[in-house]
Amino acid sequence: MSGPAADREVATADPAAGPTEWGDGLVGVGPWELERPGEPRPTGDRWDPDLLDSGDRRNVVDRYRYWRREAIVADLDTRRHPFHVAIENFGHDANIGTVVRTANAFLAAEVHIVGRRRWNRRGAMVTDRYQHLRHHEDVAALMDWAESEGVPVVAVDNLPGAEPLETARLPRECVLLFGQEGPGVSADARRRAAKTVSIAQFGSTRSINAGVAAGIAMHAWVREHAANGRGDSY
Ligand SMILES: C[S@@+](CC[C@H](N)C(=O)[O-])C[C@H]1O[C@@H](n2cnc3c(N)ncnc32)[C@H](O)[C@@H]1O
Repeated sequence: MSGPAADREVATADPAAGPTEWGDGLVGVGPWELERPGEPRPTGDRWDPDLLDSGDRRNVVDRYRYWRREAIVADLDTRRHPFHVAIENFGHDANIGTVVRTANAFLAAEVHIVGRRRWNRRGAMVTDRYQHLRHHEDVAALMDWAESEGVPVVAVDNLPGAEPLETARLPRECVLLFGQEGPGVSADARRRAAKTVSIAQFGSTRSINAGVAAGIAMHAWVREHAANGRGDSY
């Protein structure tokens, strides 16, 4: 084998390589016959005939190339992490797409949108198709759901009395709840949360971007709970 497909084989053989380090300049793969000349087409439910015909340029890791979307979701479902992510959406927060994309990357169980049903999908880069999403009308509905599931809610905001995330323990099963630009985590949510954690800041700004905060908090969970701290999806 030669060309881009061979380069990918070599690159993915390196166990230290991550998805952003494989770069051969192309995203995805072309039609199966061009990528794997002489190799029989794979058969079975997981394979998407259209992608095999036309190539697969989706934003998915290489192990899922040519897979049907439903097959990818089913595979992810076998190894999702037990943390959830929730974000308040009372004023159309543009960060929700980023939160969804990061939740996909860290394999959150589910993303909960609290408040408005509509959110700006642009930042999600189509990752929402592979992520379970649940909508709650308001904070009370989210908290009732979490209580009924026995999953503690950890609010993430730099409010007085918050525990530093840098030293806090996060429950293995939990909902990490983020607020929106401006008001931050609502008073109702904070009242019912098991605890609030804050991310240390050192500059002059009052807060960091909610999408960035969500990434930091999710990664703190990964460091504490994801077996060896290394992703295995690629
Ligand atoms: C831009 S902040 C707004 C609220 C912030 N409390 C303020 O006083 O300006 C939006 C959301 O990002 C998250 N966030 C931003 N900075 C944070 C920090 N230092 N620690 C924890 N969460 C933070 C929180 O979820 C927060 O609700």
